[in-house]
Parts: sequence; C-alpha cells; structure tokens
Amino acid sequence: MAAHQARDPARAAPLFAQVLEADPSCLDALYLLGTLHAESGKLPEAESLLLQALKIQPKSPYILTNLANVFLMQGKIDQAAPVLARALALKPDLVEAEINLGILLRRLGRLAESEQHLRSALGKRREWPQIAVNLALTLADLERRDEAVAELEAVLGRHPDYAPAHEMLGLQHGHLGHEAAAVTHLRRFIELARPESDTSEAWLMLAKLSQEPAPQRYPVSPLLRNYERKAASWDTDVGRAGNEFLGPRHIGDWVSTCAAAPGTLSIVDLGCGTGLCGPLLKPLASRLAGVDLSRPMLEQALAKDCYDELDCSDLSGFLQARPAAFDLAVASGVFILFGDLAPIFGCLHAALRGGGRVVFTAYRAERDDVEVRHNLHFAHLPKYLRRVAADSGFEIDALTDCVHEFEQGVAQPGLLVVMRRT
Ligand SMILES: C[S@@+](CC[C@H](N)C(=O)[O-])C[C@H]1O[C@@H](n2cnc3c(N)ncnc32)[C@H](O)[C@@H]1O
Repeated sequence: MAAHQARDPARAAPLFAQVLEADPSCLDALYLLGTLHAESGKLPEAESLLLQALKIQPKSPYILTNLANVFLMQGKIDQAAPVLARALALKPDLVEAEINLGILLRRLGRLAESEQHLRSALGKRREWPQIAVNLALTLADLERRDEAVAELEAVLGRHPDYAPAHEMLGLQHGHLGHEAAAVTHLRRFIELARPESDTSEAWLMLAKLSQEPAPQRYPVSPLLRNYERKAASWDTDVGRAGNEFLGPRHIGDWVSTCAAAPGTLSIVDLGCGTGLCGPLLKPLASRLAGVDLSRPMLEQALAKDCYDELDCSDLSGFLQARPAAFDLAVASGVFILFGDLAPIFGCLHAALRGGGRVVFTAYRAERDDVEVRHNLHFAHLPKYLRRVAADSGFEIDALTDCVHEFEQGVAQPGLLVVMRRT
C-alpha cells in the first residue's frame, strides 16, 4: 500500500501479486492490482481482478466505475453501460460516471436515456462546459438541432473560448443552413483547437459551405463514431417509413437480373456494414467476403452467418492485398463516403478478374463532378463516373437514376452503376 501511495506501480504490483498468492480473496489487493493493471494496459488481467473484487463487494461504486473503465478501454461498451448504471444507482453524486454513462448511451444509440443522464449531470455541475456540449451532441442526434444550438450558445456565454462548443455550434449551424454563423464558429474552432484535436469534420463542413476544397473522403474518426452508434439499430432503421435506405434493395434488384449461374462467383461486399446485402448475394457466390471499417457493424454481419470471410479494415487495403481475386464487387451506400473515386477504381481493377463487375450506388450530384452534400457525404455526376471508370479500365454496363434513400419523406437522388473490367 505504501508503494502504491508513493505512486510506484513497478514496486507495488509484484507485492500485491504476492499478497494474492497468500490470500486470493484480499479485497484491497484485488482492487488495487486491478487498477494498476488497467493503468499499464493489461486489460484482461485488470478485468479479471476487478470482477473477483466485485464478487466480494458487489455494492462498491468504486470497483464498478473502474470495471466499467476497463470494459470501455477494451471497446466493450455494451458491457460498460450497465456497470456504470449500477455504480450510479449506488452513489448518485458520481457526476463523472453519470457523464460517461450519458456519452456511452449516445454511442449505443440509446438517445433518450443519454439525454436524461446528461441533463441530470448538468443539473449538478452547470459550470462544466463538457456536459452541455455532450448534451448538445445527443440533442443533435435526436434531430433537435435548435435545442442543441441553445445549449451551446449558453456554454459560450460562460466559456467564450471553449473550442468543442465552437465546433459543435459551427456544425449545427451548418446543418441548419445558417452559413455565416457556421463559418464563424468553425473557423474559431480551428484557431482554438489543440494540435492533437480532430478538425476533420469542421474542414468537411467548410467544404460543404464552399469555403474550402472538398477533401478526398469522409474522415475516419467521425465515420467510426457514426456507425458505432447506428450499428445495433441499422437493420430496423433502414426500413423506417419516410427514412428508408434503398441501397440493398437496388443491389437485390440487380442480382435478380444477373445471368450468372448460382454458386459460381467470387464476391466481395465492400463496406458490407451489418451485412444486409449478404443474403442477397449468397445464392450467386462460390465465396462471399465482406469488408468494413466499423467493428460494431461487422459484428451484426457476423451474426447473419452468410459470409465466408469478414475483415475489419479499409476497403482499399483489402482489395490491394487480393489481386485478381473477385468476379464481382458490390458497394451499397459506400462510395458516397469518397470524393475522388479514382484510387478506389484503381484498387478494384487490380482485385477483379477479367470481365469482373462492380455494382454500386452513388448520390447524384447537381453541378460539379464531386459535391459535398448537406449530410457531409459525397455526390458524383454521371459524366464524372463515366470518365473515371474509363480511365481506370472499366466499361459502364448500366448507369441508371434511382432513389438512394428517403430523408424525412424526401427522395434523395441516386445512381445505380454497373461497370465491367475491360
Ligand atoms: C451507409 S453504410 C452501408 C452498409 C451496407 N453496405 C448496407 O447497404 O447496409 C456504409 C458502410 O461503409 C463502411 N465504410 C465506409 N468507408 C469505408 C472504408 N474506407 N473501408 C471499409 N468500409 C468502409 C462504413 O463503416 C459503413 O458500414
């Protein structure tokens, strides 16, 4: 204990381990060695010790919050949430635990509960600006953007240079079409941001507002946050009346007209997400692979049990590692996350066999070859797709207008493209 209090973990850890050899149920040693392991990144060991400590003292909010942190550090967010909730039920004044729970519930897409916990935390610590910013994030996810703006303006009234509030306020104004305010707050955020901060979404919104050139692709960290939140309810959300996402339906329609004999094609589902295209492609496949950057989305795909391989990686690297491996590549709602498609088409050319096909959906642009849309995704002009396809060694078999999805009842114009490797 003295070594621990002197912040000398290298000396304390082996001593606690010796204590546990002599007495495996020594609560202090289980708890403190567990927290030391967590600090030094030995997460499975930390989890096991804290679980043993919890068996001895199931009502300790401190063991529970440390265990929740260890779950979080391992990405086990659905295990962390109930543990944090239990800690809070035992000790309601653990404000940081309540904030973390609010954030976690948002990450899990449980927005009403997230709002409830963040409001409760804000009631206890109105002066902490990070609570209001997190509440605003949850409100924005609930599509209550005006309320989010009001919370953020109140924060900036008290903390005028709080960078995260400028970022969020700029993004919300951008989504609401308030251009001047969006630009002011995004520029201020970029000025104030620490060097290690992620400014990619701010630059993307500035590009959408025609203030900056469009980036190559949608930035990875907000992409991972978005799909982590959407994974559990993706399959039901895409069918919600007025907000249907039609990518898999278009792919299914194409499959039903495709002349290939059943069970003959080596297929890759790019950005396969939760695997909605998997069952549609399976009948054609001699082998079916899926690749996606988002692990929570892939976990849902795994449960569908129809892919021979699922890989958590970037689709470009995946294709580069598999030359001449596929007869068919499918991308439903995935190329909308890329501006310039030339690098991907290059990777596809190398990964397909002669005569191999690519079937994908895109948003249809209105004016420019590549546009950043209001949802910060990319749209492409048909003539741009034709040109990049030809330059990359593809012939267009079909390029047809379609509805990519509905947004609050409004059809979003899309394209279904089938191209063949020449
Ligand atoms: C709109 S969702 C579509 C999911 C699925 N294709 C469907 O139709 O339901 C886009 C998916 O593409 C994935 N994605 C985006 N960029 C990617 C990349 N560079 N590499 C791999 N996956 C990517 C995302 O993680 C997400 O799961």
